[in-house]
Amino acid sequence: SLIEPSVQELAKKPISKIPARYARPDQDPTILSGDVNDKLSVPVIDLQVLLSIGHSRNHELEKLHLACREWGFFQIIHHGVSASLEEFRTEVIKFFELPMEEKMKLWQKPDNHEGFGQLFVVSEEQKLDWSDMFYITTLPINIGNVELLEKLPTKLRETMEAYSAEMKKLAMTLLGQLAKALNMGDDEMREMFNDGVQSMRMNCYPPCPQPDIAIGFTPHSDADALTILFQLNETEGLQIRKDGKWVPVKPLHNAFVIVSNGVYKSIEHRAIVNSSKERLSVATFYSSNMGSELGPARSLIGPKNPPVFRRMPIDEYFKNFFARKLNGKSYLDFMKLEV
Ligand code: SIN
Ligand code: FE2
Repeated sequence: SLIEPSVQELAKKPISKIPARYARPDQDPTILSGDVNDKLSVPVIDLQVLLSIGHSRNHELEKLHLACREWGFFQIIHHGVSASLEEFRTEVIKFFELPMEEKMKLWQKPDNHEGFGQLFVVSEEQKLDWSDMFYITTLPINIGNVELLEKLPTKLRETMEAYSAEMKKLAMTLLGQLAKALNMGDDEMREMFNDGVQSMRMNCYPPCPQPDIAIGFTPHSDADALTILFQLNETEGLQIRKDGKWVPVKPLHNAFVIVSNGVYKSIEHRAIVNSSKERLSVATFYSSNMGSELGPARSLIGPKNPPVFRRMPIDEYFKNFFARKLNGKSYLDFMKLEV
């Protein structure tokens, strides 16, 4: 098959060498190496200040604008998400500890991305990432995969639903603030995203006996409008590319990492692995409504600002995205108009 059973199962064996499909010594060196710059740190935005009134609010909005323009990435604190956070963390940890035979019941079916498995694997020769993942569409509720949802452990499903609702609220709040920072019509933003499509990708990066020749998550840039990443434990691994160097994103306790995409910079990032500690994360993706068209916001283009990207119905855009191998920023280049 295209997919090895599970990296977690592999990591339980006393191996000192990883299988060839995970070893990347001869691959494009940018996947594994590249200079690391750990002097820089990703901007931190305080949502409570952003939503307050007065002078500090304007300052925070300016910070948000710069973070999106210069980084495309920021961490967010005082985000108000608390009720569902701890419970969800516990349930995701338990979920990845399920025995293999339970996980097999939740495995991806042919032609469906949802479930345990891998994404972006298009050939038998392709190298694989050192990680396991579970992918599921969570909103709108009526497009979800009911069959898969019903097979989930009840407690996970309940906490995931609560978490999903909080993530939507947070995404809408942030998109509203981004619209302000961009001087974009608030209505235009809300109309596009009110009934947005939300999905989640839960990641487990087991310890790797040869971390120098494997990668947890191939460099890529996300295809959605806004990604909210919850780093479940203290293990580091996420790195973003800034001015040609890889900048590590240190997990702040209960902070979210936001990847702002469609509107500002779509930044390239990757996850590296280490030889001793497991790492867990959940990425929640938020995209515009089903049936909407993806393209430059109409209020942002004009004679002086001609569109740089093409327009495409959202379902076609995602079909194209999932049919490809991940490769840095190549998907955005594909969306670019010839000039
Ligand atoms: C992660 O940091 O574990 C995942 C990053 C991503 O979703 O690209
Ligand atoms: Fe990503």
